[in-house]
Amino acid sequence: MAAPPASAGPALAIAVTEAGGLGLIGGRFSVDILRTQLQEASQTLKSSTNSLVADAALLPIGVGFLTFVLKLDDVLPLIEEFRPCVVWLFVARTLEGYVEWAEGVRRVSPGTKVWVQTGSVSAALHIAKTAKPDALCIQGADAGGHGFEKGAGIISLLPETADAFRNEGLSHIPLLAAGGIMDGRGVAAALALGAEGVVMGTRFLGSREVEIHPAYQAAVLEAQDGGQVTVRSHLFDELSGPNMWPEMYDGRSLAIQSHKDRVDGMELEEIQRLHNEAVKERDEGFKTGLHGRAAIWAGTGVGLVSGVEGAREIVERVRGESREALGRVAGL
Ligand SMILES: Cc1cc2nc3c(=O)[nH]c(=O)nc-3n(C[C@H](O)[C@H](O)[C@H](O)COP(=O)(O)O)c2cc1C
Repeated sequence: MAAPPASAGPALAIAVTEAGGLGLIGGRFSVDILRTQLQEASQTLKSSTNSLVADAALLPIGVGFLTFVLKLDDVLPLIEEFRPCVVWLFVARTLEGYVEWAEGVRRVSPGTKVWVQTGSVSAALHIAKTAKPDALCIQGADAGGHGFEKGAGIISLLPETADAFRNEGLSHIPLLAAGGIMDGRGVAAALALGAEGVVMGTRFLGSREVEIHPAYQAAVLEAQDGGQVTVRSHLFDELSGPNMWPEMYDGRSLAIQSHKDRVDGMELEEIQRLHNEAVKERDEGFKTGLHGRAAIWAGTGVGLVSGVEGAREIVERVRGESREALGRVAGL
């Protein structure tokens, strides 16, 4: 079980790892910020009372990279220095981009595992054959945050990918499932589909350790019926200016006022002006009631986030629930 949102800093990553999952620091836009966060994580983990964590040969958290954002040459010294147990790669401009990253990471830190997240059967096959990742996370369309613009839910995407991997002799690469997994029932379902683990993002927006504005968290807690109150769109990447993301990616956010205005025909320039004004306010443009102007990245499972708990409690609860769900189904 892993927690990778960009809003995942050291505190969330450490709490998930200490609870027996794998915590990840989410994709940063600055190498300097990442360095500070890795230093913080490394110091905290060394003084952990859990000896498995404190004495680990590699840093027992993962680090996520949006590979179109940072330059590999700037990142490699950090990986060499901190040696995270997992480097998580997402959003390469082209699928070939993962090859260079995977080779670079393995060269400077041979023990580090390379995990790649992607969103289609064909992309998964291509990445498996070229970058040869240690694991692939198959991200379904329900996921919060960025993902393939064209997508399917993991209920069909995961088993089709697993079948394709078996047919092509790639079954040695473990598949993880992401997108809409919120509790133990979701974990049990993902395991039944053929996943060997799950990645959860939206659920941790309801954690104490997540790095989000309180108004963002309030909107997440209030949201119900995720298929109705979230939407995938390129608009969310255009709110503050030109869209920097590769074209095949969009993102799922709460269907905020900016989105409603666009659907109602407001010009993009006016939406951007209102957005850029709103983010200067105390609530940084995040509001409940879908009235906000800033994106609130969240998946269709958002209605299942109903309170704020420690990340450790979330991991332990989900683990217990999944055992229970699997037992219940086995007994049918
Ligand atoms: C707020 C938020 C931020 C995210 N940031 C990242 C990121 O920086 N890098 C990344 O690879 N995935 C990111 N994701 C997507 C996750 O990797 C994952 O696919 C997704 O959260 C799984 O679906 P779920 O949100 O329904 O649990 C983010 C998701 C959310 C909700």
